Amino acid sequence: MAGMNTDAGPGPLAALVRLLRRAGRRVARDASGLAGRLVLWSEGAALGAGVRVWGVPVVSRAKGSHIAIGARAVLCSRSADTALGVAHAVVLRTLDAGAVLEIGADTGLSGTTVCAAVAVRIGARCRFGADALVADTDFHPLAPSRRHPQEDLAAIGRAAVTIGDDVFVGARACILKGVQVGDGAVIGCGAVVTHDVPAGAIVAGNPARVVGRVPGSGAGGAP
Ligand SMILES: CC(C)(COP(=O)(O)OP(=O)(O)OC[C@H]1O[C@@H](n2cnc3c(N)ncnc32)[C@H](O)[C@@H]1OP(=O)(O)O)[C@@H](O)C(=O)NCCC(=O)NCCS
Repeated sequence: MAGMNTDAGPGPLAALVRLLRRAGRRVARDASGLAGRLVLWSEGAALGAGVRVWGVPVVSRAKGSHIAIGARAVLCSRSADTALGVAHAVVLRTLDAGAVLEIGADTGLSGTTVCAAVAVRIGARCRFGADALVADTDFHPLAPSRRHPQEDLAAIGRAAVTIGDDVFVGARACILKGVQVGDGAVIGCGAVVTHDVPAGAIVAGNPARVVGRVPGSGAGGAP
């Protein structure tokens, strides 16, 4: 509107409301984090020192399987606490006896789903963008006759997934069974990763293809 000073900052009342909102958000984050820790503890997940839990993750551990979260890792299940927001809580599941789900020290997950029927091992200092997904199983047999009337568990495709250290996984990327991701690799937003990713490579698309190298990563090594 002509003559209106649109650059004027919010008044003192708005500033006070913002302050209260920030304080409320922190209280809500800490309270939900406590509930989240209880979920992890009650499922028997092993937590390293200083793990931060923001919001309540969905966790289920099959009998005789193992979930371990490294020191100072961050599990963020709340849109208020991450720039992109999350469509759902962090989901961590082991699906079978003997399965292993490991998350390395200082790794951060935002609304990320990790399901291990065999083994999913994620290294240290990784960053997982909002709603990324890692699974080492197809969950159902491919042949209809093996799905109905009863699922033939032996016919389900499964293979361990390993993700190295310092890997950056873009929002809504999917890393599927049998994949090994090398140290320092970058997975583009929305990528569907079906084959191994070399250390220091940037991959993107569906199916994911190498589109570049991480600066400073050299020809074949990690950065
Ligand atoms: C993967 C990414 C890091 C690559 O960035 P970059 O190195 O600057 O790559 P460029 O933009 O130069 O793209 C290189 C090529 O890959 C393609 N590409 C890049 N990202 C892509 C994606 N997510 N899906 C499909 N193709 C992609 C580009 O179109 C380009 O192809 P072209 O050479 O045929 O034109 C970036 O594109 C990306 O996905 N960033 C989002 C990360 C994210 O989700 N962050 C949120 C975390 S909370």
